Amino acid sequence: MLLREDLNVPLADGKIEDDTRITAAEPTIKRLRERDARVVVMSHLGRPQGRDESQSLKPVAERMGVEFASDCVGPPAEEAVGRLRDGQVLLLENLRFHPEEEANDPGFARQLAELGDLYVNDAFAAAHRAHASVVGVARLLPAYAGALMLAELEALHRALDDPQRPLVAIVGGAKVSTKSGVVRSLLPRVDTLIVVGAMANTFFKARGADVGASLVEDASLDDARAVEREAGEKLVLPVDSVCARKPEAGQETRVLGVDRMPAGWMILDIGPRSVELFTQRLAGARTVVWNGPAGVAEIPEFSSGTRALGEAIAASGAFSLVGGGDTAAAVEKLGLRGFSHVSTGGGATLEYLEGKELPGVAVLKGG
Ligand code: 3PG
Repeated sequence: MLLREDLNVPLADGKIEDDTRITAAEPTIKRLRERDARVVVMSHLGRPQGRDESQSLKPVAERMGVEFASDCVGPPAEEAVGRLRDGQVLLLENLRFHPEEEANDPGFARQLAELGDLYVNDAFAAAHRAHASVVGVARLLPAYAGALMLAELEALHRALDDPQRPLVAIVGGAKVSTKSGVVRSLLPRVDTLIVVGAMANTFFKARGADVGASLVEDASLDDARAVEREAGEKLVLPVDSVCARKPEAGQETRVLGVDRMPAGWMILDIGPRSVELFTQRLAGARTVVWNGPAGVAEIPEFSSGTRALGEAIAASGAFSLVGGGDTAAAVEKLGLRGFSHVSTGGGATLEYLEGKELPGVAVLKGG
């Protein structure tokens, strides 16, 4: 049984800094073990250029308490698979030590496929990559979706394709340019679109505000104006802000408006009046999709907006989907709980929110 997981965890000096993705893979592995499968797990980690021991999956195998093979193909993999007993789990070394993985090389996919008789893809977070272990192998073996893959797709489907209304989307993060596809795809589907984070600054400037030293994308001003025109009443922007001279801990902070920033000051979080406004909107929501923090959430001085938004979403009782790498990391760091689903996907979740078809999902449907 060949199982694709996304065990792409942050590693520093061989230490796992966040094991969310390992924990998220556990239910599928447990179910397969209970059925006495010999489970051969494949994953990538990082973006190595060829073999690079600092991006080995060995620490992940140790954390999972499973067998480990020092390569994902060839004799080390074949011998380790040969030693597996019923109900045992083996993790293969990082797929991306071989450039053929990302090239979706047919020979490499065949070598992987020979290590199992069935294929389960549970790696939702890698489903936007048309790589050998995601797409190539799925065409060579009977292929199925794992429990995590199904849970992720069900949550996205429930929130976006078949939502209980009102549906409120909160989109944040630094740049309009990277979120433009998400905004465009969400706009026709949502009842309310709340824009937060540094990307809101571009909307303020597009309205003619003086945003001081705040991060702004001048190249996206027209885009922001177009979204504002199209969205009409649906668009809700922050009405005040937490500002400082630098995005650093220990800085003097002020609560200010959003249209007249003193020279040298920048917007780094949403302010208390914005929190109140958004909390009111969220209280009536039946479905909430949240992608992108409200401010520089990794710095305590600028994290209260993100915390308050998270708490308001959880308190709303709405079906809530939290997605995107930064948002999931902020939620974890701030210890926020009570959401219906926190996606393990970063880029994959974004692409789904943009309305794109994920190649790893399409192939499981026979595409
Ligand atoms: C992720 O962390 O978003 C996935 O593991 C995909 O990683 P990639 O962007 O390096 O393909």
